[in-house]
Amino acid sequence: MAKDFDCMENSNRSANPTIHEVSDPARRTFVRGGLAATVAGLFGPLAAGTLAGCATAGSGNAASLGRAGRGIGFKSVPMATVDRVVVPEGYSAQVLYRWGDAVGVAGQMPAFKSDASNTADEQALQAGMHHDGMAFFPIEGSAQRGLLVMNHEYVDDGLLHADGMKTWSAEKVRKSMNAHGVSVIEIQREGSGWQQVTPSKFARRITALTPMTLTGPAAGHAMLRTAGDPTGTRILGTYNNCANGHTPWGTYLTCEENFADYFEGVDSPDAHQRRWGIRKGNGAKYRWHEHDERFDVAKHPNESNRYGWVVEIDPQDPTSTPVKRSALGRAAHEGAATALTADGRAVVYMGEDSRFEYIYKFVSRDRVKPGGAAANRELLDHGTLYVARFDVDGTGEWLPLVQGQGPLTADKGFANQGDVLIKSRQASDALGATKMDRPEWTTVDPITKEVYCTLTNNSNRGMPGQPFMDAANPRSNNTMGQIIRWKETGDLDATKFAWNHLVLAGDPKQSRYEAQGNIKGDTFGSPDGLMVDARGVLWIETDVSTSTLGKGEYVNLPNNQMLACDPTKGEIRRFLLGPAGCEITGLTATPDLKSLFINIQHPGEPANERSDPDKPLAISKWPDGAGRPRSATVVITKNDGGVIGT
Ligand code: FEO
Ligand code: CA
Ligand code: CA
Repeated sequence: MAKDFDCMENSNRSANPTIHEVSDPARRTFVRGGLAATVAGLFGPLAAGTLAGCATAGSGNAASLGRAGRGIGFKSVPMATVDRVVVPEGYSAQVLYRWGDAVGVAGQMPAFKSDASNTADEQALQAGMHHDGMAFFPIEGSAQRGLLVMNHEYVDDGLLHADGMKTWSAEKVRKSMNAHGVSVIEIQREGSGWQQVTPSKFARRITALTPMTLTGPAAGHAMLRTAGDPTGTRILGTYNNCANGHTPWGTYLTCEENFADYFEGVDSPDAHQRRWGIRKGNGAKYRWHEHDERFDVAKHPNESNRYGWVVEIDPQDPTSTPVKRSALGRAAHEGAATALTADGRAVVYMGEDSRFEYIYKFVSRDRVKPGGAAANRELLDHGTLYVARFDVDGTGEWLPLVQGQGPLTADKGFANQGDVLIKSRQASDALGATKMDRPEWTTVDPITKEVYCTLTNNSNRGMPGQPFMDAANPRSNNTMGQIIRWKETGDLDATKFAWNHLVLAGDPKQSRYEAQGNIKGDTFGSPDGLMVDARGVLWIETDVSTSTLGKGEYVNLPNNQMLACDPTKGEIRRFLLGPAGCEITGLTATPDLKSLFINIQHPGEPANERSDPDKPLAISKWPDGAGRPRSATVVITKNDGGVIGT
């Protein structure tokens, strides 16, 4: 989601050193050299031989598809102002699962009402709004049948209710809560098209009202206990589920991002609340606190500590209880890309999408066991969480977030590991981690094990009173964003790494040097969704905010898009355009890479992110051409039945 920075964010006032403050004159030259120095860095100590040429053997599909090569063979899609999904010649895009479509619970499949008159109870059985991160789980290894699990990040109350927010009620709050969360649907391919299987024994909606547990080192912590849950382990719901992860043992990870937007803060917030953006006035956005006092911070000061976690869901078992994994730390979590060390331990990479926040890595203590979700029930409860520091010489270090180590001691406010995890931001501040330009998705190249992360943008970088540029975040007023990548020194559990930028996004037609970027190929800005597929192609999705699309330095970029990159060559080519006012997000594929699923989020969203209920089609008529614009999953196939992107 694009963000309302006036009411949140930018809460990192810590004094971690930036290059500005480093005394070594050579370092200053590097940063002051700006873009040119950074581009040179790409071909300097970290030339292709180091980062791009260190392939290790992949496994399974990755190995066989990887051998097929990373080449991209489609013809680039020209940028245009459109209100439809545009794919290259020879490809087809099919709408699969729209906001309001029944999830497929037997005997409970209410039809979508395009005047938004579905009830809160009906919404709990239908696709939520604002589809986001997503993963395909093959059934018995099939590329033709599987479960599609996806996030519903937030809502546009202007579209969700017939009269928008003109009136407000407990029923509307409940409908909003039920339009958040996660969908589990079953899908299958028949002939050239995909269909949702309804009813399905797997069909499930998880919402902001679904009971879940919290496990790991923070379970039961005093800061997690509330009047409704004196145990500090039983939490109602998940929401603002942005990007995601999926594990080798068959579970889905959903990430709680901008939870602070839902809490009405107090007049005099304490330091912890300030650091997490829990402010007076936040509640006006979704107005949950007016009918559910859990979201009134004055009454329930600990409730907000119970969000900002990564939640593990077993999609194979619709009766399973989702679990918030506190060992992975608390953050405005964007995604949770998961891979394995050579000896089978899980490594989870996580970005925190806020200005000047951090990149995290979790390494599990134990190895993954055969036997799926049941055998690995506690795998994400034990391990070490790290935060990244990117150094100017192109190396970096993972700093352990472990109580008792370094500054993470009781006298500094970290008396136990729960303190460290609940206050991950403060702990990372204390460790001197690198303040990044809004880390969004991470992805691990299955062939080379290089890790990529989108840093979507940060127009506050280098502004008066704000953190200065550094080597990893080299541009002031960074409107365009960059993709950073690193290679661990050794296996994925290493504590040191080498890094560089894959690309600085931008538009070469812009007059301001910092907005031009160094793209080898098609123009884009604000990269967000990211996936290296099994063949080694890097897919990039953009989330330019609707207040910015087609304006200012984005004048030549009126719509959001998806691009493909061959990382060995650095070439980037536009693959897809989305309809008016949408963001492109969610990204998953079948194991044979012949079907690629994406999500179109918030088609028709106006600049203020809330539609006029009297003119719901003012900006977009996608996908139905009538009624209301609807976020939806789209499946892309190649007309000749081939591998996507070739
Ligand atoms: Fe929900 Fe950072 O995008
Ligand atoms: Ca975003
Ligand atoms: Ca995002």
